[in-house]
Amino acid sequence: MPDKNTIESLIEKALDARTFSYSPYSEYQVGAALLAGDGTVYMGCNIENAAYSPTNCAERTAFFKAVSEGKIEFRAIAIVGGAKGKEITKYAYPCGVCRQVMMEFCRPDDFYIIVAKSATEYDVKTLEELLPDGFGAANL
Ligand code: THU
Repeated sequence: MPDKNTIESLIEKALDARTFSYSPYSEYQVGAALLAGDGTVYMGCNIENAAYSPTNCAERTAFFKAVSEGKIEFRAIAIVGGAKGKEITKYAYPCGVCRQVMMEFCRPDDFYIIVAKSATEYDVKTLEELLPDGFGAANL
């Protein structure tokens, strides 16, 4: 589990990333900050589309930025989400598709998903807790 300072700093970066959310249709803004194995942090926001289905979640934006720059080992991700212009009142746990993308690159018992309302109010779960018995490369 990342230490308190690392968690708080990842949440701050996720909050920053959320300001770039392109979400004119749902007006639900999500930000993510993904900590790679080498310490680099990749930020992501949700990016919506008028055709709806091409929409990309904040978590996957961060993963795809990292993988496209050669990183395939990860330690943790912080996620913040909430309605535009309102206070964040709920934890934004990742959707099923994003959990499956995490499954591709992360060790389920050693990848930490931090969902936050603020830098000091958060919940931490492993990928294994959020995607039990997940399907991955080891199953093939
Ligand atoms: N969204 C994310 O960015 N991450 C999730 O894990 C769930 C949903 C986005 C997609 C869409 O732009 C908006 O939130 C509402 O579903």
